[in-house]
Amino acid sequence: MQAPKSVNASRTTLTELMIPSYANFGGKIHGGILLSLMDKVAYACAAKHSGNYCVTVSVEGVEFRQPVEVGELVSLMASVNYVGRTSLVVGIKVVAENVRTGLVKHTNTSYFTMVAKGDDNRPTEVPPLLLETTEDIRRFLEAMTRKELKGQYQERFDNERNRLRLTDDLGRLADERCIIGIKPA
Ligand SMILES: CC(C)(COP(=O)(O)OP(=O)(O)OC[C@H]1O[C@@H](n2cnc3c(N)ncnc32)[C@H](O)[C@@H]1OP(=O)(O)O)[C@@H](O)C(=O)NCCC(=O)NCCS
Repeated sequence: MQAPKSVNASRTTLTELMIPSYANFGGKIHGGILLSLMDKVAYACAAKHSGNYCVTVSVEGVEFRQPVEVGELVSLMASVNYVGRTSLVVGIKVVAENVRTGLVKHTNTSYFTMVAKGDDNRPTEVPPLLLETTEDIRRFLEAMTRKELKGQYQERFDNERNRLRLTDDLGRLADERCIIGIKPA
């Protein structure tokens, strides 16, 4: 087995000034810009821990609670929360600072699942995670819970989707803001 690596050893922060070309038509920063920065810092953190090239497999918890403005300084703080055999979960806290007033707002915390790849482009084992603080332990346990619940949700959703019958379920649309523009078969 590989030697364990601590959470601190791969902790990574990326800071970037939000320039006007990052803004959408409403003058706020595009969500896609923030996602791209999150993907970058997740990669750096995962690659540091694994010592290998890593790919993004899934992303959870992307809910932008507050808009980010042009001129704000965005910092993305990433750390490995959990490791499996070849996968790892990187937790990323995103904050935006108004550089003139010093006001800092927390925009989102998201979780990127990354997989380490070897030279043969196959998933390759990552080092175990050394948990040195109660916070490290709490985050690892939370990631395990998130993974279990995601599995249960996916199974339930697949069952519901297979159960769905257009004719039987049409009534569920009655109170929705949609109009059926075809004659039901
Ligand atoms: C993710 C990928 C490596 C899985 O490859 P695979 O041959 O199916 O490998 P495995 O089934 O052995 O899974 C490898 C690991 O990924 C995890 N994994 C696979 N699919 C997953 C998913 N949807 N969500 C979370 N983890 C997932 C597995 O649990 C496993 O983790 P573990 O080793 O820690 O237990 C492969 O599908 C891939 O390369 N996808 C493209 C990723 C990419 O290019 N991303 C960039 C965006 S385009």
